[in-house]
Amino acid sequence: MIERNDLCWCGSGKKYKKCHLFEDMKKKSSSLENKKRQKMIKTAQEIEGMRRAGAFNGQLMDYIRQFVKEGISTIKIDKLVYEYTLDHGHKPACLGYHGYPKSVCISRNNVVCHGIPSEREILEDGDIVNVDLTTIVDGFYGDSSETFLIGNVSSEVRRLVEVTAQAMIYGIDAVKPGNKLAAVAEAIEPYVKSEGFSVVRQYTGHGIGRKFHEIFTVYHHVDPDEEPIILEPGMTFTVEPMVNMGGYQVVTDRKDGWTVRTKDGSMSAQFEHTVLVTEEGREVLTRTPSQIAQNIRLEFSGKKFK
Ligand code: MF3
Ligand code: CO
Ligand code: CO
Repeated sequence: MIERNDLCWCGSGKKYKKCHLFEDMKKKSSSLENKKRQKMIKTAQEIEGMRRAGAFNGQLMDYIRQFVKEGISTIKIDKLVYEYTLDHGHKPACLGYHGYPKSVCISRNNVVCHGIPSEREILEDGDIVNVDLTTIVDGFYGDSSETFLIGNVSSEVRRLVEVTAQAMIYGIDAVKPGNKLAAVAEAIEPYVKSEGFSVVRQYTGHGIGRKFHEIFTVYHHVDPDEEPIILEPGMTFTVEPMVNMGGYQVVTDRKDGWTVRTKDGSMSAQFEHTVLVTEEGREVLTRTPSQIAQNIRLEFSGKKFK
């Protein structure tokens, strides 16, 4: 290996540090950058795979929606997710992921995310409950979630869910080629704060493709540590803000190692979609067939977001 004070390889007779060192360093770092970019940008074939995975995930959400009602146990919802996914020849991605024991995450009231379905947990009037579905379709992942209202939910808590849905849409709308990835957080956090709620920091969106969680992290809160990524057509990732009624702090259950709750016991809501950056803007890969048929971005409590 050539050292800084050696003669340059080009034969100029100058020391390497006074000659080609800087240029060589630049080349090396741009080829690293390129490798990373290539990893983030899907080929046309991979995009087709992601479209199919997203479409199935949306179809599964449309199927599950009718069952998310007062009186059902969360284990029953898990069973329905498992069976529907297998019946269609696909795989629930959560099952066995880092040891996760079930096929779906179901997070109720003060549970922020990663709630484990249980036969002891029955949906009750006034609850809010997030159902987070992830499936593997021919090697590609689709990931989306919705928070449902069970029976009569207080107007304050309904507002939390509505703001969270809107926050996700603002985040998705900020996805455009040429925009910074940080535009997502910049669209979400000020809005959520202005409504008096807080954005969870410890859990984020993520690149997605042939793997569940791919290299980059999508923050929903404005953070100087977020990677300075410029969005380009062909990138696929999730936008999935978790919004708390109280503070943003969360704690993980020490016994099961999964269930994440708000630290102050306040309610928490979440919505998630998988998106693809396109030449024009973005495509929401996990929109459900009913959302597509009605030409709406998302429906919440009879309110349609265009
Ligand atoms: N679906 C979650 C997400 O949106 C991840 C769940 S991982 C699991 O990223 F292991 F808890 F299932
Ligand atoms: Co996700
Ligand atoms: Co998810």
